Amino acid sequence: MRTIDLRRDTITLPTAEMKEAAFNATLGDSVYGEDDAQSSLESLAARKLGKERAIFVPSGTQGNLVALLSHTERGNEIITEENAHIRTSETGGAACVAGLMIKTVPGPDGAPDPDGVSFAIRKRDIHYPKTSLICLESTHYRYGGIVPPLEKFDRIRMIAKEHGIPIHLDGARIFNSSVSLGVEAKEIARFADSVMVSLSKGLGAPVGSMLCGSEMFIEKASRYRKMLGGGMRQTGWLCACGIVALSDENIGRLSADHENARLLARGLSQIEGFEIDLSRIHTNYVVARFSHPRIGVSELVVSLEEKGILVTPHDAGGVRCVVCREVDTDDISYTVETVKKIVQ
Ligand SMILES: Cc1ncc(COP(=O)(O)O)c(C=O)c1O
Repeated sequence: MRTIDLRRDTITLPTAEMKEAAFNATLGDSVYGEDDAQSSLESLAARKLGKERAIFVPSGTQGNLVALLSHTERGNEIITEENAHIRTSETGGAACVAGLMIKTVPGPDGAPDPDGVSFAIRKRDIHYPKTSLICLESTHYRYGGIVPPLEKFDRIRMIAKEHGIPIHLDGARIFNSSVSLGVEAKEIARFADSVMVSLSKGLGAPVGSMLCGSEMFIEKASRYRKMLGGGMRQTGWLCACGIVALSDENIGRLSADHENARLLARGLSQIEGFEIDLSRIHTNYVVARFSHPRIGVSELVVSLEEKGILVTPHDAGGVRCVVCREVDTDDISYTVETVKKIVQ
């Protein structure tokens, strides 16, 4: 039985081109700057994101944590959108490792409300923690891969500038945002002082993320990366895959995932019990509410699994499906047909 895995975009396997690049990479000790592929990948990422420098880190979680540590001091407060990945899904690292408090500001379109951000910035007072960082996220993971509006990022950037507060962008899927908006990723990253980008999600590399920012920021970040165990020595095999992941062709391919996600959303939305806000399908995620007189969400998930289709139950009372390179248009049609049969 074929398996159609719609649980996550981290299931993408390296392409033949990545494997060949990895095979041919010359290895060296990256901690001493002697791994050519890592150095090349870092220069490429800095260029693509419009920043002075970049470093390769093992994961997005580590990249975000290194950014928090580099921008702040213990006892400071940071501002995030209320459901930001940094707050909800990084095992409390901001508090536990970086010693930070988090002030949240809601933003159902993915960007924290700018007036709310302005209000959340602490006045100078001996009783208050110092607000030292504002975090943004694009795409917004918990809101189903939506792309927050750049006008909001711009307003937040102006507010941050007025108060001398830096901005970090969790851009795990920034290239999905850039493809969806039809702009270069650096046009999104320019609203932030630092940006983390994942190579291991829709871009298909097996491991790794990039953290990009100014020369001075990366100098500091490199020390924290080492402290957290991110000095990975001979990283060339991984970085060679990362270089292919950041090629224009590979980035452009994300539009096929977005098209397949829309196809899936349109198909499911015509089936009894499904409710999908099609205007919120911006990238490769489909969040579908499901309420049916005979079948519950967990029964639907189990029935799909029996047919080889893997989806994730969603907090909002439905299912979440994530499309990536491992899923093609036939898989989408098969999924829609199978759901129809289960529900009828
Ligand atoms: C928005 C966002 N930020 C950060 C991360 C963390 O990345 P990693 O899984 O590589 O630690 C994820 C992972 O899914 C994510 O969705």
